[in-house]
Amino acid sequence: MKRHSMFLILMTVLAAGQLASKQAPKHASPKSPAATAAPPAAAPFVFKISSQDKAKKNPVPFTDASVAGGKKLYATECALCHGANGDGKGSLASVLKVKLLDMTKPGALANRTDGELFAIISQGSPTMPKEEGRLSTTQRWEIVDFLHSLGGKTPPKATEREKLQLERTIVINH
Ligand code: HEC
Repeated sequence: MKRHSMFLILMTVLAAGQLASKQAPKHASPKSPAATAAPPAAAPFVFKISSQDKAKKNPVPFTDASVAGGKKLYATECALCHGANGDGKGSLASVLKVKLLDMTKPGALANRTDGELFAIISQGSPTMPKEEGRLSTTQRWEIVDFLHSLGGKTPPKATEREKLQLERTIVINH
């Protein structure tokens, strides 16, 4: 019995606190249907990338081999949101109500360095899952190469040496 009333007191205190904190914006009562029906237009998420990360050079040469590898990974990791062809119209994008960049437009990613793209893929966002710890470094750079091909950039054929190098590093997860 005692325990029960303590719980009630605690809940009352908590609820009072909740109400007090909700009072600042005058008309937004907690859980008002209006608030859920028309959420304020959220500011677009801005990726925070250090200048060090921006300056990172892509160690995986842009070749048909790296693009092919990146394409496979893209299909399983990214297409659901960004669209099978990169147009930003993946099925999950509409469910999440996010408007995504059309990466098939030539130059759509021109304002991003490879290091930036790598950081975006590695870190993700509140909506986008991060690939660090899931995909190896080489695999993430392969995806960067593939993204460049979306805008119409054609990769040169990989040399035997480049293919070997790619195979050697692809599974090393770090
Ligand atoms: C669950 C959905 C989802 C998945 C899966 C996803 N993304 Fe994203 N991506 C987003 C959203 C949403 C944004 C915009 C930032 C935000 O609102 O969080 C974004 C932004 C980006 C951007 C920045 C584009 C710009 O506007 O400059 C790139 C590049 C990108 N994603 C690449 C990828 C790659 C590559 C993959 C797969 C490894 C991937 N994303 C997987 C949802 C997703």
